[in-house]
Amino acid sequence: MSAHDVIVAGSGAAGLTAALALAEKCKVLVLAKGSLTGGSTAWAQGGIAAVLDAGDTFEQHIGDTMVAGAGLNRQETVEFVISRAPHAIERLIELGVPFNSARDSDGVNKLHLTREGGHSQRRIVHVDDATGWAVQQALVAAAEAHPNITLLPGRSCIDLITGQHELRYSGSGRVWGVYALDEGSGKVEAHTARATVLATGGAGRVYQFSTAPRGATGDGIAMAWRAGARVANMEMMQFHPTCLYNLEVKNFLITEAVRGEGGQLKNPKTGKRFMPAYDAREELAPRDVVARAIDAEIKRDGLDYVHLDISHKPPEFVKEHFPNIHEKLLTLGIDMTREPIPVVPAQHYTCGGVVIDLAGRTDLPGLYAAGECSESGLHGANRLASNSLLECFVFGAAAAADILDHWDSFDAPPPVRPWDESRVTDSDEEVIIKQNWTEIRRFMWNYVGIVRTTKRLERAAHRIKLLTEEVAEYYGAFRVTTDLIELRNLLQTAELIVRSALKRRESRGLHYILDYPQTDAAAKDTVLVP
Ligand code: FAD
Ligand code: SIN
Repeated sequence: MSAHDVIVAGSGAAGLTAALALAEKCKVLVLAKGSLTGGSTAWAQGGIAAVLDAGDTFEQHIGDTMVAGAGLNRQETVEFVISRAPHAIERLIELGVPFNSARDSDGVNKLHLTREGGHSQRRIVHVDDATGWAVQQALVAAAEAHPNITLLPGRSCIDLITGQHELRYSGSGRVWGVYALDEGSGKVEAHTARATVLATGGAGRVYQFSTAPRGATGDGIAMAWRAGARVANMEMMQFHPTCLYNLEVKNFLITEAVRGEGGQLKNPKTGKRFMPAYDAREELAPRDVVARAIDAEIKRDGLDYVHLDISHKPPEFVKEHFPNIHEKLLTLGIDMTREPIPVVPAQHYTCGGVVIDLAGRTDLPGLYAAGECSESGLHGANRLASNSLLECFVFGAAAAADILDHWDSFDAPPPVRPWDESRVTDSDEEVIIKQNWTEIRRFMWNYVGIVRTTKRLERAAHRIKLLTEEVAEYYGAFRVTTDLIELRNLLQTAELIVRSALKRRESRGLHYILDYPQTDAAAKDTVLVP
């Protein structure tokens, strides 16, 4: 059993931002499933949105965020986050993130700003086309150097420790930390603290095709839900329009900045652009619009993919802006300076999550959440490109500030029950996990994808019910492994997505359902109460 002042579950942008701010005053334990760089943060390509250009304003960034979010955003949150963006970028520069910059005509060095869908201005700071890797490296280096931070990779959190796990039940209803599996030894440890921050990322892997890394299985969302916290807007799963279509490489993203810098979407059958027929903003319409347009082209013409073409730009321009993508594609036999890239939409981002307020507080005393596992009200029905990392920095810092501001009101954790393994054995049927995992991801893709119907959602709900019984039986009988923990959470997340999708009887943003094509006059969150 280990006791720290604060536990942070997750070592991505949200988790390490919170940890670094907390470590100014207290001892922080950071737990991460797999490696410290295994979350989505390290994979981010395009960049981070912030108003930094003289011609841009907070009002425009707020307006673009609300338009993309189809009015479901909480205005207060949008203003809160966007007004803090320039400071978040300054902080990252202090940490050593080498954002691209260039001298302007007056010889002044300025950050290079790229553009992405839904943005009316150039406002995306970036490090080539691999921004996330640079950010993740800088955050890990700072955390490793901090004497008040203990980093424990290789720990899969299983469940939150709450009042019901206290040795002497006090009825406090508090969260006191987490039970986590040591992936090396196979032992489950109880880590307790005065406050716990969930920063476990999204649930993209609930879908067969996703740009998200392997560990994006909705663990934090499922843990918070099981412990009694509300979740909201889980039906708002974002599909990125341009994931590479390749039979070997399944989840390689082609950044939206390719379209921002002039890339065009073309139907491979006709060789013609199709976005002008769908939306006046053409290739730079918000993601939900572009993904649906691609889906429609693919379904109408029986295509495997559409083309993303930037070969009309000078080769040097393409290589300078997208060096990593260019190089990766060359290894697959595609030269993007001379030919189009085959692309398909794939799940990309979980807009919904654990409900938090502006201080990152969840419904449960002692529990905070930040980043992709949370629902702060920033994204509404569809996240604006490059607003996600920004949300991680702002809410990681906000959660830390609230904990430090109220430190005296956080009690020391009481003794809690150790993990009970007395009635379980080692599994001899791991094939069940693999089978169930594949089944969930396939029916989620086919029945709960870009375009939905009530009938398909009901079919998905029915399968989830059957699988839930099977997984509960398995979970009760066998020792936990990371695969089993993930399967249980994947299934729980799928259930929350489908339940939310069935509740929303309109089409808005990312939730497009043929039975209810209209958008209601009033935008309402889908809030699920445990
Ligand atoms: P993550 O970075 O995903 O980190 C989650 C952490 O939680 C990891 O450390 C993981 O190990 C840990 N974890 C998970 N489960 C457990 C558990 N059970 N126990 C312990 N630890 C656990 N957004 C932008 O704003 N700009 C972009 O350019 C951009 N590009 C993207 C490109 C790709 C390919 C992808 C997939 C996403 C992109 N996004 C982008 C989205 C953005 O990267 C993510 O939303 C953001 O990084 C999420 O950060 P996070 O800290 O919330 O979670
Ligand atoms: C991208 O680079 O296209 C991803 C940006 C994002 O997800 O915000």
